[in-house]
Amino acid sequence: MIDAYGRNIDYLRISVTDLCNLRCKYCRPEAGIKKKAHEDILSLEEIENISKAAVEIGIRKIRLTGGEPLVRKGILQLITRLSRIKGLEDLGLTTNGTLLGENARNLRKAGLQRINISLDSLNQEKYRRITRGGNLADVLEGIQAAKAEGFSPIKLNVVLIQGFNDEEIADFARLALTEEMEIRFIELMPLGEVYRWDLAKYLSNKEVLRQIPELVPLPGKEHGSVVKMYRFPQGRGRIGLISPISSHFCGACNRIRVTSDGKLKPCLHSDREIDLKNADLGNLKNLLMKGIYTKPENHAAEKTGFVPGKRNMNQIGG
Ligand code: GTP
Ligand code: 5AD
Ligand code: SF4
Repeated sequence: MIDAYGRNIDYLRISVTDLCNLRCKYCRPEAGIKKKAHEDILSLEEIENISKAAVEIGIRKIRLTGGEPLVRKGILQLITRLSRIKGLEDLGLTTNGTLLGENARNLRKAGLQRINISLDSLNQEKYRRITRGGNLADVLEGIQAAKAEGFSPIKLNVVLIQGFNDEEIADFARLALTEEMEIRFIELMPLGEVYRWDLAKYLSNKEVLRQIPELVPLPGKEHGSVVKMYRFPQGRGRIGLISPISSHFCGACNRIRVTSDGKLKPCLHSDREIDLKNADLGNLKNLLMKGIYTKPENHAAEKTGFVPGKRNMNQIGG
């Protein structure tokens, strides 16, 4: 469906839970979050209905996010059902990877097509610190399991954090020399928890190009992609730069999102939401179309600077 500014909106991101088995410092408070009542969270059936309605109005790609989507009960069953929706061309999942070792095979069997994995450090001690207790070995095992099941290319999401992982840029990038992976550096966005943590940890993606001048830009952009792609001259994989702060991409935005409690967010950086919970299939189509048609041209931050939104990333799913 084409929105009011001529953008083709064909990508839906659905947060299936705001819970997570980690507590990354930029994502959620140290004390954790209060678990929502069961009835406030979208049921699997509601998620399936929203997906069906979305495909009927032109969505072609769905990505399940969290929190951590693999802690949601019934996630495999949900993926099986979504993979059967006619007209859906791409079904992906963004995960912290820690539970992939035990789940990769079943995710494949259920019909999942793509996996993106979040990993901010290759150093066990630093990984434990940023995630407040996570175990790096679990993620590495998860990546191997996903590869073994044939998920390709696996995309690794690295949020750039000043004074934390800027010294690891080359280590991460090197993975794209020998492996068919896409290593994506993401600028830290001033959203939710980041305001309570440390706003000064933002680092521009220009730092990646400064440290690795030999990267060759790849021409063009995939439709609606927020990523600018590069590669090493002899590299097997690719490096992606996602730069929401230093280079805005609202003009090419192709996506809408649904939070775990069933609110449609036409824009990541806007607090305007449309409630989808308890709506039937016919109604869902109308509400989704209304959301797309009223999607803002760009986020207020382009004019006024960022303001803290009412939600943390764990509820929106990035
Ligand atoms: P692909 O389907 O592989 O293209 O995935 P993706 O890049 O759309 O999804 P992923 O969940 O891996 O997101 C990567 C990063 O991009 C996350 O940090 C998201 O927060 C960020 N991101 C995704 N969509 C948007 C958006 O619309 N605006 C902004 N500012 N950032 C976004
Ligand atoms: N800024 C940028 N990326 C973020 N993510 C979570 N919070 C932020 C933030 N404030 C990333 C996660 C994951 C993706 C879905 O969003 O690391 O890779
Ligand atoms: Fe969990 Fe991802 Fe948030 Fe880390 S960034 S706490 S892995 S949802």
